[in-house]
Amino acid sequence: MVSACAQEKSDLSMRAPGAAAAELHPPSPSLSVTPYNSTPRPPRVPSQFNSVRTSRRILALTFDDGPHPELTPRLLDILRQQGIRATFFVVGRNVEAYPDIARRIVAEGHEIANHSWNHPDLTKLGDQGMRREVEDTTAVIERVAGRRPTTMRPPYGAINQRIREALTKEYNLDVILWSVDPLDWRKPGPAVVTQRLVDGAKPGGILLAHDIQAGTIEAMPETIAQLKAKGYGFVTVSQLLALREEPPAPAPATATGPVPPAPTGTLTVP
Ligand code: NI
Repeated sequence: MVSACAQEKSDLSMRAPGAAAAELHPPSPSLSVTPYNSTPRPPRVPSQFNSVRTSRRILALTFDDGPHPELTPRLLDILRQQGIRATFFVVGRNVEAYPDIARRIVAEGHEIANHSWNHPDLTKLGDQGMRREVEDTTAVIERVAGRRPTTMRPPYGAINQRIREALTKEYNLDVILWSVDPLDWRKPGPAVVTQRLVDGAKPGGILLAHDIQAGTIEAMPETIAQLKAKGYGFVTVSQLLALREEPPAPAPATATGPVPPAPTGTLTVP
């Protein structure tokens, strides 16, 4: 267990000179720069995200459960035509079955991420079974696509504290859930998928979809067009996390007492 103090130090060294976040988001002029030791930060908590805080109109489009031999390539064609990048939460056994598609995902600039090997509810597995799902999937992605995933979406969004700690602390995987679920697996038809995704989009949102559903692929050109028309840009999940902004500074503390922990993301589990 890393002490809060050591954690704090590593946070600061990562944020030190020329930190990307600071360049992208210069502090607002009304805020003076405060010495690091006057703004106590809570120890890092395991990172789980449904969305991130940002003032920019950016979204992460995510596709789960592939690669699918026909639908994923079709989706990749659409994303290429649209000039946008997405995140693919792939199932390990499908990566093993369709390695060329996994390689294409990476080659075209998308993020490839862990979605377990067999798509089980991880909370129902023992520790060894859960670890195997995670490790085997990371291993096949790395072997086939040459990329080590940094994010994971547990199947069904099912997670508990034990799994979250293993994923974030031991495997260094951020847990990614979603802010918009169009329930596309129920096959409501492309127009409905589009409407649900567009209606649910908010800055910093993470949109869930499945590239094993034909109707979802069919919905994408119109979905992307409508979101672009609303001024949204698209980034991968890791890019979205890197662009997240700190919550507004709390009022200066005058009394002594515990500082409430700042949220690192939205912590609702669907
Ligand atoms: Ni899934």
